[in-house]
Amino acid sequence: MITPLIIANWKMAIDADGVEAFKATWNAKPSIHGIEAVVAPPAPYLPLVQGLSQLSLCAQNVSENEQGAHTGEVAASMLTDFGCQYVLVGHSERRQNQGETNAIVAQKAKRTQAAGLIPVVCVGEPSHIRSEGHATSYVRDQVLSSCEDLAEDLVIAYEPVWAIGSGEAASAQVASEMHLDIKAVLADRYPELRVLYGGSVKPDNCAAFTMATGIDGLLVGGASLSAESFWNICASAKGAE
Ligand code: 13P
Repeated sequence: MITPLIIANWKMAIDADGVEAFKATWNAKPSIHGIEAVVAPPAPYLPLVQGLSQLSLCAQNVSENEQGAHTGEVAASMLTDFGCQYVLVGHSERRQNQGETNAIVAQKAKRTQAAGLIPVVCVGEPSHIRSEGHATSYVRDQVLSSCEDLAEDLVIAYEPVWAIGSGEAASAQVASEMHLDIKAVLADRYPELRVLYGGSVKPDNCAAFTMATGIDGLLVGGASLSAESFWNICASAKGAE
């Protein structure tokens, strides 16, 4: 049985007061055993969330370079200094807004693994690709190209672009089919691969995903900003175990 992995991606949508409010509420909640809960704060807030009970740390991004003259970038080794265990790479917002290609994503994932961290490689099709009937081949290509030469310790997050922040989550069946396809494509190289679903996950729809075949956890954006709502999602994933 794979332990469900539930990651909160706060994006750039929280401030320091919000982080403190999250901590106060989260730490007052009962512990949830049998899941791994992770929070990905904006980089400057990593020190603020150290020591949050029962939460591992994830960075939202990492440099593809090891070190040196790269103003504004953060190296994977620096993230280990702040106790990170995971790094999101290739989130669709970065692919779209920062022009991150599959090759750049693969390089970032490699740097992440070289520093002893686990990359969470994000993939997902835009809506026009799905309506043209090419979602599976598009995601297969992203997965294969973004994971080139990676070691086994990695996680994939399937986040259809049209489901992110739209309030229109994929159905559990659509997500499950894609997850199984991703696992099949990578089965030779990564037999134990974990694949998470992301895109408009909320407390009232999360159980459908965590109970579906091939879905090993969740990557949650908006609904993870409130500790109450993120705790409910984690508790529900535990129930679906
Ligand atoms: P929402 O949950 O707000 O749709 O965001 C999903 C996401 O992008 C998580 O990485």
